[in-house]
Amino acid sequence: MAGNLAVGLDVGTSKVCAVAAELNDRGVNILGLGEAPSRGLRKGMVINMDATIDSIKKAVREAERSAGIRIKSVTAGISGAHIKGLDSFGAIGVRRREVRPADMDRAIESAKAVYIPLDREVLHVIPMDFILDGQEGIADPVGMSGVRLEAKVHIITGVASSIQNLVKCCEKAGVDVSDIVFGPVASAAAALSRDEMECGVLLADIGGGTTDMVFIRDGAVRYSSVLGVGGAHVTNDIAVGLRINVHEAEKLKRSCGAAYAGIVNGKEEVQINQTGGNTKTMPAQYISEIIQPRCEEMIGMMKEEVKACCGYELATCGLVLTGGASLLHGFDKMTESLLGLPVRIGRPVNVRGQMAAVANPAYSSCAGLVAYGYESSPARVNHPDIFADIVAGIKGWLKGAFRNKVHIQ
Ligand SMILES: Nc1ncnc2c1ncn2[C@@H]1O[C@H](COP(=O)(O)OP(=O)(O)OP(=O)(O)O)[C@@H](O)[C@H]1O
Ligand SMILES: [Mg+2]
Repeated sequence: MAGNLAVGLDVGTSKVCAVAAELNDRGVNILGLGEAPSRGLRKGMVINMDATIDSIKKAVREAERSAGIRIKSVTAGISGAHIKGLDSFGAIGVRRREVRPADMDRAIESAKAVYIPLDREVLHVIPMDFILDGQEGIADPVGMSGVRLEAKVHIITGVASSIQNLVKCCEKAGVDVSDIVFGPVASAAAALSRDEMECGVLLADIGGGTTDMVFIRDGAVRYSSVLGVGGAHVTNDIAVGLRINVHEAEKLKRSCGAAYAGIVNGKEEVQINQTGGNTKTMPAQYISEIIQPRCEEMIGMMKEEVKACCGYELATCGLVLTGGASLLHGFDKMTESLLGLPVRIGRPVNVRGQMAAVANPAYSSCAGLVAYGYESSPARVNHPDIFADIVAGIKGWLKGAFRNKVHIQ
């Protein structure tokens, strides 16, 4: 693969998708997209290697065909209930002189000295702020004078075996994993504006099996969590409630489902095909009556996370919903009203290309992963200005994210 090409691979619970893009003089340009249904994951974690390998192969081959390139390595996204975020502090002495970049590195290094259980791997170490001689909230202390420099970092970890299984699946499907990025961090890169990342914003990537949340402020990820609930739970509720198969339930959810019954026309009727061959006609509102409690539960869980990260005080730009399940009719309105925060739906905007299909919330994570592919690519050296321009907002808060690469034995 040429140095200015990068590929993002999102191995999700509902679908596996690969996005290939080039970095040219106008920015990140999407060249191709490949997608395959995902059969081997539950709640973001691999439970069937063969099925996962098969889905990855299909998605990668399709991306190769549509982009006209050969894919050798990818930046992979990871999620799952095993991912945890924690904050840590580290301090060093700077001996009464100006702070140098190497001092920042040492302070971050010392913040990494925190107990992480042996079965976990560090995915990201994201610097949040520096404190110099008690003065808090310094983003870049280089050049300032002081005695004691403290670093506050957000560390994202995952269970080593889960990370290992994902990497193994990719390798067995014929692609190397150059980096691993926590899914919603990638989604944020694709779907958020720099202003939002500066002022304070929550992002919830609602997929099939999980809802992944991050809180970003002053350009740094400050909180992360994974909730074990997503769009597949809504589909299952419909299947059980109407005694239909999940395929039929999925179709009904997308065509006439809504997050709450109040926005559905009371006179509208739908025909459903039950298992066993029976067809039935019923008010469309009935489907949303089944969906509503699950949506209330999901929003209630998100609310707890908003409280946990002080989102009500600090998320000036509110909540951005992305991921396929954010498309459920009325879910954004319902979230806004139950949460009491401004809510919008986020889709990939920080990328370009002829592929209209990518402009869908379900592809935010995959499109964002592409941007991280350039972090270590020669394209960065060849086009320093362009790189800085495109990825500056992302890089700022990614800084240090790959300091601790995942070590796979
Ligand atoms: N138009 C739509 N209306 C309602 N739900 C939708 C729509 N399109 C997709 N979904 C739902 O989005 C979910 C899949 O979203 P997405 O593709 O982001 O998941 P994923 O990344 O594979 O899963 P995860 O992130 O949980 O591992 C499914 O539950 C699907 O039913
Ligand atoms: Mg996803």
